[in-house]
Amino acid sequence: MRKFLVAGNWKMNGDTARNRELVAGIIAGSKPSETVEVLVCPPFPYLAAVAEQAGDSHVMVGSQNVSEHESGAYTGETAPAMLRDVGCTYAIVGHSERRTLYGETDDQVAAKYRAALDAGLTPILCIGETLEEREAMQTESVCSRQLSAVVAATGIEAFASAVIAYEPVWAIGTGLTATPEQAQDVHLHIRSMLSAENAEVAAGVQILYGGSMKGENAPGLLTMPDIDGGLIGGASLKSADFLAIVEAAVEVAGS
Ligand code: PGA
Repeated sequence: MRKFLVAGNWKMNGDTARNRELVAGIIAGSKPSETVEVLVCPPFPYLAAVAEQAGDSHVMVGSQNVSEHESGAYTGETAPAMLRDVGCTYAIVGHSERRTLYGETDDQVAAKYRAALDAGLTPILCIGETLEEREAMQTESVCSRQLSAVVAATGIEAFASAVIAYEPVWAIGTGLTATPEQAQDVHLHIRSMLSAENAEVAAGVQILYGGSMKGENAPGLLTMPDIDGGLIGGASLKSADFLAIVEAAVEVAGS
């Protein structure tokens, strides 16, 4: 059985005091669970402090990006091993904001994915279509292209312990959410693609939905058979909002 993963992508938000309060609230307001995993992805300067605060609680810590290089002359970059060193266990790769604002290509995302995995981090690979692409009926082909680039570079076995986040770009930070059926269709497409390569690996991959997920729409999304959690931006910045999604996952898992 796949577990749910509820992951907060804080993006470029927070400060020391607010982070402490948020993490304390999440730890206090959720429980270690066999069925629901909880992850927070703070900005780089706060990763070590948040990892220390999370300690051996059930709350895990990940980064929002990672370098594809191991070490060396890459000013401004952060190596996967450094993230492990400060207590991260996950790294988001290929978020649409990285692709759009910083020009990350499919090949670069694949290299980051491989580098994260090689350092012992679990990569969360983000894929998803823009509004224009959805309207042009290209949702599946865009997701296929973004996913194939990584599968081709790493091999299907590299997905045995990975996470994919389907994030329709038109739903990110807009308040628009894919309906549970729209999201499920794409999640199923993603799992079927992987399944054509290796059914066992495909059955184990956690596929998260991201794009204006919140407490109100989480139950409908999480009830879908191929939606295994959420990558949450806006609603991850207040513990009550984030915990409402964790709670929804706990309820769906138990029902
Ligand atoms: P949102 O962001 O929940 O604010 O739409 C999701 C994301 O970008 O990961």
